[in-house]
Amino acid sequence: MGRFNRRRGYLLTICALALGLTAPMTANAAAGGAPLFTPGAPGAGDPYFPDMGNGGYDVRHYDIKLAFDARTKAISATTTILAGTTQNLSRFDLDFQGPLKISKLTVNGRAASFVRSGAQELVITPRHGLRRGSTFLVSVTYAGVPQKIDDPALGISGWVATKDGAVALNQPIGAATYYPVNDTTDDKATYTQTVTVPTGLTVLANGEPGPTTKHNGRTTFRWRMNQPMASELAMIAIGKYNVTRSVTADGRPNITAIGQSIDTKAGQGKVFNQTTAQIVQWESSMYGRYPFGSTGGILADVGVHYALETQSRPVYDQRTSKVSGDLLAHELGHQWFGDSLTPVHWSDIWLNEGFATYSEWLYQEKFNGVPVQKSFAETYADEKDWSGKVADPGRDHIFDDLVYNRGAMTLQALRLKIGDRAFFRVLEQWPATYRYGNVSTRTFIRFVERLTHRDLGTFFQTWLYQPGKPRV
Ligand code: TRP
Ligand code: ZN
Repeated sequence: MGRFNRRRGYLLTICALALGLTAPMTANAAAGGAPLFTPGAPGAGDPYFPDMGNGGYDVRHYDIKLAFDARTKAISATTTILAGTTQNLSRFDLDFQGPLKISKLTVNGRAASFVRSGAQELVITPRHGLRRGSTFLVSVTYAGVPQKIDDPALGISGWVATKDGAVALNQPIGAATYYPVNDTTDDKATYTQTVTVPTGLTVLANGEPGPTTKHNGRTTFRWRMNQPMASELAMIAIGKYNVTRSVTADGRPNITAIGQSIDTKAGQGKVFNQTTAQIVQWESSMYGRYPFGSTGGILADVGVHYALETQSRPVYDQRTSKVSGDLLAHELGHQWFGDSLTPVHWSDIWLNEGFATYSEWLYQEKFNGVPVQKSFAETYADEKDWSGKVADPGRDHIFDDLVYNRGAMTLQALRLKIGDRAFFRVLEQWPATYRYGNVSTRTFIRFVERLTHRDLGTFFQTWLYQPGKPRV
């Protein structure tokens, strides 16, 4: 799609020592009257990714402590998870995949038995059943050289080794390559990431920095994300970076970084930092209060050929065909659409990409004088692929142009139908109403119908579910 096709390219002391309530397991609830403890589900029910995520518990916080060896590219790490049970659990799964070896695993401080099964299940059996409504701590210590995922349809995700370090980009299925996780979009949690690297390398991650400390030739960086975050949006970048720090108009840290090997133009770091702040401020004027405690971005040579809306701090791969203002508007637009508000199922990813692409069109209008309607008309005329369903494109098509372009076209068609006033209320009220939550296309349609007092069933049916080019 011509110029619109630019994609291929601290410290939480887990102080609440969450011992939870434990109880002996009984096989038969009826017999003794004691509660029955059963295994948690090995998946979270996403039709595209049935093994992703797990059932029976809800994660509240991830504490990832990780050391990176620049010579061997190996990591050694302990990830501690604070979770709450949603059923009486005899055992539960985490997602964890690849060659990393687990040396220690405890539940509430006591060794628990575990087996790894299938491609990504880590099945954990604590000594005692975990009672519904209690909290528990799982701590997993592991080491090895993480292996990225290279999926023919979904591209590269997970822990990606780079020339001078590594970058972890998790969408949609990469998180489990370097930490044990409930890898589903609808189990958001807060994060603390503590990463130790050889002194000289820099570490960036989501959210706000904590103190950096040096010891024996190694430097430890601390980052915390205090707002709920889906695992697909967690990020770590290790390497040689030039970092630029400023503060946004509303007082939030704005931390950007450019890989030293590609930071070639004088003032590039400052421009990247200021443009980011400017776009976040402009988008806040349309989409409402910015949802996170800090912002920024990372421009790096990763080799994945895409940019990603990692929470609070997107990553732009240098090898994305064009890292430009509208791409920044896209990834920063995702902070409201995709990050703060996140689809329950991957079939609804148009709720991310449609709004992010629409952010590009709004950017083109505001900063380059290209009317949104012109972007719509060109996309409508040029689009080749009208065959799929936007709101259910299929597992191998979640990153197709269809999702991005027809998603954005659906929004412009909606604007023409309900008028500017109502449309811009949607742009602000939709992320405000579902801030930090999970949503579906059905929720969106109901939301717009309530706001406008109109039946939009046929309209959305045509644009989102019916293959073929809608008439305009
Ligand atoms: N979701 C990302 C964005 O739109 C792009 C992306 C992530 C992507 N993984 C991908 C694009 C794989 C193509 C293939 O900002
Ligand atoms: Zn996007």
